[in-house]
Amino acid sequence: MYSEKVMDHFQNPRNVGEIENASGVGTVGNAKCGDIMRIYLDIDENQIIRDVKFKTFGCGAAVATSSMATELVKGKTVQEAMEVTNKAVMDALDGLPPVKVHCSLLAEEAIHAALWDYAEKNGIKIEGLKPPKADIHDGEEDAAEEY
Ligand code: FES
Repeated sequence: MYSEKVMDHFQNPRNVGEIENASGVGTVGNAKCGDIMRIYLDIDENQIIRDVKFKTFGCGAAVATSSMATELVKGKTVQEAMEVTNKAVMDALDGLPPVKVHCSLLAEEAIHAALWDYAEKNGIKIEGLKPPKADIHDGEEDAAEEY
């Protein structure tokens, strides 16, 4: 049911971890399953993604897609990273079962959220980038306080 590439990236995920003092951090939750993804970007002065790491509380497909997505954005400019869509990631993994397609959105959305964070911090505009719609990062502590 899963391609060899999916299994490889699930069993040996690339770029797991976090980056201290990252240029941009994005955290998103998947409304469908409640899983969470966080992406850290290290971006140099030429707007090139020097390093990228991810952490996820997600399923195997989320791990595999994030692993592949981080490989695809590494070394790219922030603008080029916008082309790494969940479809591009799935193609690079030789596909995902239809019920797992939503998992691949976590990586794309978390990368966009991290790019948004970077753009905000640096006062730049990334063409086509929209504000993260499911950034739960700021809400984590607030939610805890409410209860
Ligand atoms: Fe939640 Fe896949 S089931 S990310």
